[in-house]
Amino acid sequence: MISFICNNKEITEDCAGGLPVLDWIRSQTGLKGTKEGCREGDCGACTVVVGKPGVTGVEYSAVCSCLLPIGEIEGCHLVTIEGLTTGDELTPFQRSFYDEAASQCGFCTPGMIMSLTGCLLGSSELSASAAMESLDGNICRCTGYIAVKRAVDRVMEELPSNREDRLEMLIEEGHVPAYFNTISERLSKLPVHKDPPDGTVIAGGTDIYVHSSDKLSDEQPGFLSRRDDLNFIHRDAGVVRIGASITFTQLRESQAIENIFPDMKDFLSRVSSTQIRSRATVGGNIVNASPIADLAIVFLALNASVTTDGRSIPLCEFYLGYKKLNMKRGEILTEVSFPIPESGSVLSSLKVCKREYLDIASVNSSMLLKVENGVIHQARISAGGVSPIPLLLAKTGEYLHGRTVSEKTVKDACTVAATEISPISDVRGSKEYKKELLKAQIRAHLTRGTLE
Ligand SMILES: Cc1cc2nc3c(=O)[nH]c(=O)nc-3n(C[C@H](O)[C@H](O)[C@H](O)COP(=O)(O)OP(=O)(O)OC[C@H]3O[C@@H](n4cnc5c(N)ncnc54)[C@H](O)[C@@H]3O)c2cc1C
Ligand code: FES
Ligand code: FES
Repeated sequence: MISFICNNKEITEDCAGGLPVLDWIRSQTGLKGTKEGCREGDCGACTVVVGKPGVTGVEYSAVCSCLLPIGEIEGCHLVTIEGLTTGDELTPFQRSFYDEAASQCGFCTPGMIMSLTGCLLGSSELSASAAMESLDGNICRCTGYIAVKRAVDRVMEELPSNREDRLEMLIEEGHVPAYFNTISERLSKLPVHKDPPDGTVIAGGTDIYVHSSDKLSDEQPGFLSRRDDLNFIHRDAGVVRIGASITFTQLRESQAIENIFPDMKDFLSRVSSTQIRSRATVGGNIVNASPIADLAIVFLALNASVTTDGRSIPLCEFYLGYKKLNMKRGEILTEVSFPIPESGSVLSSLKVCKREYLDIASVNSSMLLKVENGVIHQARISAGGVSPIPLLLAKTGEYLHGRTVSEKTVKDACTVAATEISPISDVRGSKEYKKELLKAQIRAHLTRGTLE
């Protein structure tokens, strides 16, 4: 049994917890505004808003319903496009999309309106740029984005941005109906059926649902989100510890992380999309073992270790081969930790992809670099897309230690790096192109502000 509120209605459903919410909405509710496009988290047509009870009330975010197991909305508020109004009226975004001709075939439009509403309900910042950013996971194949931007700007210009009572303001402005005010109390009265994790391990589901959605539809998976002990970011005794269930969004919004790595927020805005970042976890990125996993690359440069059921393993020893891990079947990765970099060190992370937004890298890399008086005191570099595993370029780091930053050092470092990598040609580029990309990234890491 799974209990939640869908729009303004309490639901108790007897179904497998692994069923994608998209399938439940479209087959069980008669609500057809939520569209099925790619089923891979890539188009945003299926976007819904989910509200979870939190410390400051119900915390809302936009997510892709095609990658969201229904068991994950136990005790939550599920909002579809139909839940944004109670009659025939339009919300300000719907009206503005109409007025500005921001919708042609209309297939992408409900997803866009849901992303924008998720931003209004959940984003710390209320601005036109934040609203446009919230559309980074929504693809439109016919209208284009100029009309969308006009429509968004118009609404955001008129939105009171200085009100403390956000929900009250959004109700007054017609972005959500008045019943949203009742949700917090109603959620607290729902029966709770949360079973302990048991079957296939699901963290955010943004990797596993892309390839195993059909199989998981009939299963009762083991949701790691039900383990409170995996959701933390701690900084103590010179070490940062991050629980496996921390999402990309939580990492991006963490003040503790921003204090140490001021550029991390910008880098994370190029990782997947708003909808995916709301669900994708740090642990899932590491265990998924993609050779271009963005966070695995960052953590390798930071000399991180992972903890699996009490065992601590350096991350650089965790990947044994393509998708092969130094972890026993059934083990759970509980946290990743790394020493706080010495003062004066800079973490630089780069990724080159075919598209600016919502794309995985052809080649990505990170370098932790400390340069004093032109001399490299520390250089730890990792790269993705150039080997079957997320790779620590140990020899390149050793070569750089103690050298001065010069054109010759850059050139020789690239030569050493070339001996450590084995890229293959695939849809993300030829092996020759990937070698060139890595060279360009090494140059960029080393020369930021130090060479002409
Ligand atoms: C549209 C789209 C865009 C994407 N863009 C990017 C991108 O730009 N960069 C990038 O790096 N990735 C990207 N990804 C991939 C994916 O979002 C990330 O790899 C994400 O971190 C996976 O985490 P998750 O929590 O969703 O993992 P899940 O899908 O829940 O799990 C992945 C695998 O790891 C296992 N697992 C998860 N957590 C644990 C744990 N703690 N212990 C043991 N096993 C565990 C699961 O059983 C499963 O086999 C994208 C995915 C999509 C769909
Ligand atoms: S159907 Fe395309 S993101 Fe879900
Ligand atoms: S209006 Fe047709 S896909 Fe966007």
